[in-house]
Amino acid sequence: MNLTDLQALERQSVVGTYARLPLQIVRGSGSWVWDEDGNQYLDLLCGISVTNLGHCHPDVVDAIRDQARTLIHASNLFYTEPGIRLAERLSKSSLGGRVIFGNSGAEAVEAAIKCARRAKPGGEIVSLENGFHGRTYGALSATHQESKQAPFAPLVGGFKPAAATAEGIAAAVGPNTAAVLIEVIQGEGGVHPVQAAALEAARAACDQHGSALIFDEIQTGMGRTGTLWAYQQTGVVPDAITVAKALGGGLPIGALITGERLQDALVAGDHGSTFAAGPLVAQAALAALAATDDEHLLGRVEMLGERIRTRLSEMPGVTGVRGRGLMIGFDLEHGDAPGLAISALTEQRLIVNATGPSTVRLLPPLTIDDDEVSEGLTRIASAIANHNAR
Ligand SMILES: Cc1ncc(COP(=O)(O)O)c(C=O)c1O
Repeated sequence: MNLTDLQALERQSVVGTYARLPLQIVRGSGSWVWDEDGNQYLDLLCGISVTNLGHCHPDVVDAIRDQARTLIHASNLFYTEPGIRLAERLSKSSLGGRVIFGNSGAEAVEAAIKCARRAKPGGEIVSLENGFHGRTYGALSATHQESKQAPFAPLVGGFKPAAATAEGIAAAVGPNTAAVLIEVIQGEGGVHPVQAAALEAARAACDQHGSALIFDEIQTGMGRTGTLWAYQQTGVVPDAITVAKALGGGLPIGALITGERLQDALVAGDHGSTFAAGPLVAQAALAALAATDDEHLLGRVEMLGERIRTRLSEMPGVTGVRGRGLMIGFDLEHGDAPGLAISALTEQRLIVNATGPSTVRLLPPLTIDDDEVSEGLTRIASAIANHNAR
C-alpha cells in the first residue's frame, strides 16, 4: 500500500495519538531502512533507542526464529528457562539483586514505584522536573510536564517534583520519601545529562532518609552511553534501575533490576503480567544483551560519540552539543527542529528526531560503521544548511 492510502486508512482506523513522520518503513537492515518504493534511509534514531544493534541483527533474528519454533508462550504459571536466565544475566551485569519483568518501559517504572511504596508504605516518589518516565498513570505521575499531565488529572497522589540540581533534590527528599527516580541523562526532555553533584546529592539524601534511589535507564541503558548501563560512569550506585527499549532487540520487554535494598520488597501476589519475560522475548533479550555487552562495541560507542559531537560543534547553526556515547542532542540556532527532522527525512533520506522546538536528538545504532557516520554527518550538515537558507 502506498503512503497516501496508508495515511487515509490510519485516519479512519487508528486513534490519532501519534504525529508520525511521512515515511512508511517496510524493511530494515543494520543502519538502514527502506520505504515501499525501495528508497533507502540512514537511521540515526533506532526506533528511539530500541534497535541499538541495527535492524534485524542476525543473532537476535536467529534467537527469535529458533525459539518461535520451540515455544512462544507458556505464562508465568509455569517455569520457562529463558526468562529466568535473563534475570540472572541482568542482575550479574549490574546491581546483583533480583529482577521484575514487564512488557515496556512504563511497566518497569510501575514496578519500581510499587517496590518503593511497599518498602516504605505511603511514601512519596520524588522525580525531576523535565524528566520522562512513561504514560501509564504511575509513570505519568512521575513525569512532571504540564502538557502531558494536565489533561489526565487527577493523577496518582504522593508524587513530588524536584529541580535537577543538588540543592533541588536535597530540598525535596525527606523522611517520607519512598524513592527518588532519575534519568541519568534526560532523553525526551532534550538529552540533558543530570550533573554528577545532583546524582551524588540524591544518593546522600536517600541514604539519610532510608529512601530508594532508582535510575530510569530505559533510554540510557543497553550500551547507549558507552557502558552497558549509564550509572556505571557516574560513580553513584542506585538501588534499582529500570530498563526496556533495546533490551528485547526490538521486541517489547521492560525490567526492574534491583539491588539489595529493594529485592525483597514485593512478595507473591503483589505484581504480575501475563506476557512478562515469556520465552520468545527473553531469548531475543539474551541475544541482544550478549551482543551489546562487548568491550569492542562499547569502546566504539564512546569514540564515535566523541567524533560526532566534535563535528556537530563545528557546524554553522548548531549550538549546545551534548550527551554521552551515542546519545546526542544539539540545538538549532534558528529553531524549528521538527521542520528539520521532516526536511532531513524527505530531502536527505536521513532519520533524526526533534525532542523540543529547537532540539535535535540522535540515537544511532551502536553498530554503525565509520563510513555510515561520515555519511550521516554529511547529510546532517546539508539538512541544516538548507534549513538555515530558508
Ligand atoms: C527514560 C524513559 N523512561 C520511560 C519511558 C517509557 O517507555 P515505554 O514507551 O516503553 O513505556 C521512556 C520512553 O521513551 C523513556 O525514555
